[in-house]
Formats: sequence, structure tokens, C-alpha cells
Amino acid sequence: MPQILETATAIAREAGALLNDFARQRIGFELKGDYDLVTAADRASEKLIIERLGAAFPDHSIVGEEGGRQRGVSDYTWYVDPLDGTTNFAHAFPVYNVSIGLEKAGDLVAGVVYDPTRDELFSAERGGGAFLNGQRIQVSHAARLEDALVATGFPSRRRHQNVNVHFYYQLAMLTHGVRRAGAAAIDLCYVGCGRIDAFWEFGLNPWDMAAGVVILEEAGGRSTDMRGMQLSVHSPHILTSNRILHDEIEQLFAEIFRGQYRYSMVEMPLTGA
Ligand code: IPD
Ligand code: CA
Ligand code: CA
Repeated sequence: MPQILETATAIAREAGALLNDFARQRIGFELKGDYDLVTAADRASEKLIIERLGAAFPDHSIVGEEGGRQRGVSDYTWYVDPLDGTTNFAHAFPVYNVSIGLEKAGDLVAGVVYDPTRDELFSAERGGGAFLNGQRIQVSHAARLEDALVATGFPSRRRHQNVNVHFYYQLAMLTHGVRRAGAAAIDLCYVGCGRIDAFWEFGLNPWDMAAGVVILEEAGGRSTDMRGMQLSVHSPHILTSNRILHDEIEQLFAEIFRGQYRYSMVEMPLTGA
């Protein structure tokens, strides 16, 4: 599908340049929910992407995070996150991206994630391998959790219902560390290029996952939900890894879901705090 990937790449680069223009202006933000930010940059980027995709693929459906839609007649659906990492962006913390993924009849078939702060373009199409700025990428070879660097995220919505802190704590004790960079599509691509060895999160949306999942799978990684079941963009949680670590993390997560913790926070001495 050469023109699909080329077109999505050109659009992601254009949207990324637009985000950087907004970043230089230090624009303000509004709240969509209690702590859920949105900026003029999210909306302008989505408008641009949907206009460009709609013109190039008039038969395809498009679903954008900020409400942009095109109802198509073919099997193809684009999932668009026009600015993944809005909270970072609003605070001038330079970790954000444009994420554009393509699904065909329920299967993820292509994805582009562009990080305009580092000029890093991740791309993949099903069966064709994954690339970072045109160079082939591969997942890491880490074989033990104790040698791994992993990542997660926390949603801005309904935080009080989020149990991820339990998973975070166990992994923080068992690995070299847990990163929380604040942009899920970048986390997924970083599993793909071996900068981290695994990533998980509760409550992601289709536009957070679609592109990054194709990229990390084409780089040799594995993605399921956190219970090891087949992943879809509508799954309630996601677990991705370099494949080697997957079973070990899945087993650990099964214990945590049962309420069994290898490290107990209660036992943590508070002396000196
Ligand atoms: C968010 C980021 C963040 C993740 C949240 C997402 P947004 O996307 O990817 O890393 O932890 O769950 O909602 O709102 O900045 O596009
Ligand atoms: Ca997002
Ligand atoms: Ca977003």
C-alpha cells in the first residue's frame, strides 16, 4: 500500500509542523473533563489531518479524537490522534506526537507516528516491517524483567477508578524502572525500536493505539490485553512487549488482578519520610 503510507506520512509531518508552530506561541488550554486538557493545537491539527485524509481517501471512514468524522463506504477506517500528549504540550514538556493508524475490516494494517520535537517518524504497514526515519527498527532482546526498562500511562479521566498504581508499583520494584512519558503512541513506538522493553496501560482509546500497535508488531513485538487476550483497538487495557518478556509480565499481571502482590506497599517503612 505504498501510497497509503506515503500519504499518511506527509500528513503527519504537516500536522507535526503545525503543532511545533503552536508550541512556539505557548497557547493556553481548556478542560474537556476534570483534568482532561484540550488546546487550539489539538483542533487545528485534527482539522488539517481529516481534510487531507478525506481528500486522499474519500471512500474511507475517519475517526478523530476531537470529534472529526468521515463516514466512508469501504472497509477502511483511519484513527487519528491529532496531538497525543496534550498535557505535556500544554506544559511545554516536549513529548508529544501525531498518530494516524489504519484499520481494514477490524485488522490494523498501517500506522504512522510523528514526533515533531525530535523529528522522528515511525511507520509500518502490515507485512512490510517497521521503520524510524526510513531505517528498519526492531524490538529489544531483554529476556528478564530485572534487565528491563518499561513504561506505562495513567488516563486523565476517572483517575479515582484507575488501579494502575498497583501494577506500576510491582513493575517499579522488579525492573530497572517504569517511565511515564505521557504520550501513549510514543511509548508503543519505543517498544518497537527497543528503547523500552514493555508498555501497558488501562483505558486507552482507538486513536492512541492503532498506529503504534502496527509499528511495534511489525518491529517484532507482541500486543495483547493485560490478561493475554487478543487485542483490539476497543480493548479496555493493553500490554505490549518485545515478545520475550510477554509471558512473564502476563503472569505477574494475573497475580495482581487476583490481588496477590510480590511486593507489598503496606510493608514499606515510612521512617525518614
Ligand atoms: C493521552 C496520552 C497519555 C496516556 C493517556 C492518553 P492525549 O493521550 O497518550 O500518555 O496516558 O491515557 O489519553 O489525551 O494526550 O491524546
Ligand atoms: Ca492520545
Ligand atoms: Ca489527543
